[in-house]
Formats: sequence, C-alpha cells, structure tokens
Amino acid sequence: MKEIIADTLYVQLEEKLDKSQIEQLIEIPPDEQMGDFAFPCFSLARIYKKNPAEIAGQLSETLKLPDLFEKVIPVSGYLNFFLNKRILAKQVLGVCQSDTYGSKNLKKNIVVEFASPNTNKPLHLGHLRNISIGESISRLFSFCGNKVNRTSINNDRGVHICKSMLAYDLLSEGKTPENTGKKSDHFVGDYYVLFSKKASEDESWNEKAQEMLRKWETADEHTVRLWKTMNKWALEGFAQTYRLFGIGFDKEYFESDIYKSGKEIVNEGLEKKVFYKRDDGAVVVNLEHQKLGNKVLLRPDGTSVYIVQDLYLAVLKDREFNYDKSIYVVGNEQEYHFAVLIAIFKLLGYPVANKMKHLSYGMVELPEGKMKSREGTVVDADDLIEETKRLASEELKQRYELSENDLEERSLKIALSAIKYQLLKIDISKNMLFDPKKAISFEGDTGPYLLYSYARASSILRKTESKKDAVFSDLNIHETRLVRKISFFPDTITSAFERLSPSVIANYAFDLAQIFNEFYHACKVIGSDSEGFRIELVKGFRSVLKKCLWLLGIEEIEEM
Ligand code: ARG
Repeated sequence: MKEIIADTLYVQLEEKLDKSQIEQLIEIPPDEQMGDFAFPCFSLARIYKKNPAEIAGQLSETLKLPDLFEKVIPVSGYLNFFLNKRILAKQVLGVCQSDTYGSKNLKKNIVVEFASPNTNKPLHLGHLRNISIGESISRLFSFCGNKVNRTSINNDRGVHICKSMLAYDLLSEGKTPENTGKKSDHFVGDYYVLFSKKASEDESWNEKAQEMLRKWETADEHTVRLWKTMNKWALEGFAQTYRLFGIGFDKEYFESDIYKSGKEIVNEGLEKKVFYKRDDGAVVVNLEHQKLGNKVLLRPDGTSVYIVQDLYLAVLKDREFNYDKSIYVVGNEQEYHFAVLIAIFKLLGYPVANKMKHLSYGMVELPEGKMKSREGTVVDADDLIEETKRLASEELKQRYELSENDLEERSLKIALSAIKYQLLKIDISKNMLFDPKKAISFEGDTGPYLLYSYARASSILRKTESKKDAVFSDLNIHETRLVRKISFFPDTITSAFERLSPSVIANYAFDLAQIFNEFYHACKVIGSDSEGFRIELVKGFRSVLKKCLWLLGIEEIEEM
C-alpha cells in the first residue's frame, strides 16, 4: 500500500523524488484517527521553496487518489491518507489467503550461516538466539523468492578443543557417553569444565593443551584418534538438539577440513605484499588505515588463528553456491573479526568482499539465579528446552485432559514457540533478558499466546459449514481494525526484509493476534448477520498469522 501511495505522489511531484525515497518517507500514524498512512512534506520544502504546510495543502487538493483511498487531509506539514475500508476489505480478503500474499520474487542466491558451534561443549542459550535468528532470516529470504542455502561451520580445531580432549585423556578412566548414559555433547562439555578447574589450580594444564594442539597439527596418531572420538560425540549431540529445535543445514563445514587451505590465502597475501612477516615469524596484516590495527594471521609457530579458516570458507562457499549474498549470523562480540575479514578481502581484491554481511546480534542474559544449569555459568540449550517443556506441560494439565502423546507433542510445540518468540521479538542488535516463566505464559506478548489465537480461529472455522456469501457492508471498528492490520502484512514483510529483522514480524504478529482477540470478544461470528463476511475475516487472519508463525520458525497447533 505504501507503494500505491508512492506511485500516486511520484506523478504528482513531477518525479522530483524517487519512488523508493517517497515510499521510505511514508509513515503509519500512531493513532488511526489521524489516518492510515502519513506522508511528511518536510523534505519537499527545499525543493519547492515553500513551507511544508503549504505544500501539504496544495497536494491534498490536486492528488488523484486511487479508489482504495477515501480522502487525504493535510495536517501541519503531513498528508494524512484514509483508506476506504469497504474497498480495502474487499481487496484484502480477496488476496490474503493466497500463498503468495506478502511475498516477493527476488530470485537471488543466498547463503546463510548460523549456529556454527565449537565442538568442545554443548549448545547454550546464546546458540538458541543465533539459531532462531538464522532460521527466521532464512525463511524470510525464501518467502521473498530467493534460493536459500543454510550452512554452519563447526569450529572443531584449536586449543579450546584440545582442552576437553586433554582432560578426557588424563581423567576419563574409560568413561564414555554410552556407559554413563549422558547425552554425548554434554559428556564432552563436562571435560571442558573439568579442564578449566584443573587449569585454574595448575598453570601447566594450559601448556599441555598447547602441546596437544601442536601434536594434532602434526597428525600425531593418538591425538587424532582422541579428537575423532570426541568430535563425533559433540557433533552427534548438536544434531539431536537441532532436530529437537526443528532446524537443519544444507551443508555443514568443518574447520579441520579447511584451515590448511586458509594458509594458502595467507601465502598469497604475503606474495602480493598485502601481509608481512614480523621479526618473530608471525604473519600479520596491517589494517591501520581502516582503524582496525594490526591483525596476526599465523602465529610465530606457524599455527593459524581463528580468522584464517574464514578466509578460505568465504571463497569456498562462493565456489559451491555462487552466491549473491552471504550472511553470517554471529554475535556482536565478533564485529571486529568480520570487519577485519572483509577488509582483508578488499586488500586482496577478492569480489566476495562486497557480498558478505555480518548479521550481528546481542547477548542473552537471564534473570538472576534462575535456571543456571550445570557447573554454573551458562544455560544449556537442551536443559532450557526441557524445562520450558515441563512448564508448558503443567500449564496444559491444568486446562485440559490430554493423552500422554498429545501432552508430549503439544508441550514441546508450545515450549518451542515460547523460546523462539521470546528470542525473536527483541530487535536483534539489542542485548536481551530471557525469562522462561514469562515466555511460557499463555497471555501477553508470548509465543503461546500466538498459538492460542491461531487455535481459536481454527476452532471457529471448524464449527462452521457456512457457505454464506461475504457481504461487504459498513464495517464496525473491530472489523475495520482487523482488515487494516491484515492489509499491513506485505509492508511488514518489506520492512522486516530491508532490516533483516525478525522482530518486525514478531511484533506485527502479536498486534495482529491482539486485534483478532478484541474482534472475537466483541463480535459474534457464527449466527450473526455478517456471518459470511466475518468468516472470511477469520480465515484471512488465520492465514496471515500462520505465515507469521512460519516466518518465526514456529509450528502452529490446531487445538490448544
Ligand atoms: N564457532 C564460533 C564461536 O562459537 C562462531 C563461528 C562464526 N562463524 C564464522 N564463520 N566465523 O564463537
């Protein structure tokens, strides 16, 4: 709809502003009394050398309004547009149930990288934010008509990996995940914790871990065997968690496969004199001119630092997927890392430099004291899902009689909706607080509330066989609001896509559900005079909410 207004204004303004510029200026007024859309005339003041109020006044008289709009009113420098609700209802309800409503046809080839764990410990709450964002962004890209390739890099080499290996090697006494009955990635993580404890008591453990890394890099047989065993445990555990969370990858990469090829790019940089060798033998890149300092790539002993694998990986992904854009969903503590990575590619003259984007997100914190699992410092992803599921199941048991199976299935879906929605509703750039008790509530701004609203709409539709025609007479305030909100879905997608921001969709979905519930309480659907129309409205709502849920990676429930 912003596009329709922009088209109209574009003609009237004699092409003095771009269509896209106009579209971006269009706002949705905070109060619907002030209109459905507003165009601020302030930026026109310079062009026309008149004051904004005057411009708005003149435009309002000369604009050729499309049928969809009832009127336009100038108010202190703004043009306020009012939709014709009856025409809107007819148009929107005619299209909003189609699969393509709100979608685009962009046809680009996109690589999205997310999850990307280290194989020394299990996934934690931060990974769940990462994965929720990665999956949601991937779905948004494909909803907009792009081809999406989901990838993850398993960082499975380096001194941090050797730490859990070392502790296991010296202290395991033959224990395995199988004979202890532990989930295999948790088992590995326990040895990482054990290492930290030992190293805090005795410095030499850190040196021994370095020693182990050197052995690993020279393919020492015992070390490599140990690494293979433990790495497999870690990866198997991750795969279980991914499955539980409902995600998967088109391609998983492994640092152990690619880090050597990264060294070749480092050598190329040395030859091109883009990198230099320091007196101690370390290979360094000077990025002072970009205010990124000097960055070591190879240590004096020839081992590579974390960024080297990313040099090769970016190129490898380009070769394998021939991407138009490569998105990295990685926490904001790695902003420097990605700035350096892209800067290096610019220096080397690699085209990938212009196609990579770091989608940075903030930390997740917990309300003090709650749910600190295991040895204390982080919240384990599996524990969190399990605990949230338990809360959901308690809630369900209070409300309904369900079979064991139904209870199990529904409480998992509700728990995942709670976690995903809570993690996605906050702007990704911001740090956030995660409160499991709040997330699981069936009321308020939560995933379960969305599921509940969806199930309510489904239940209305189950009860009706009505074939009554929808009659578009005058709409009451609740009908109007719902139609209007449904009509904003395509614009919502546009803005979520432009900002790569799942929270835009999450917040829209919550508002939509609220408006629907107000409608539901105020307006009888079945058996009312407007039955035909209202049923169409409920169907439209349900279909749009379903799309929102899908875009958030949330599975709907027909009955709650
Ligand atoms: N494994 C890293 C970590 O846990 C994240 C990797 C991000 N992706 C990348 N291509 N560097 O911190």
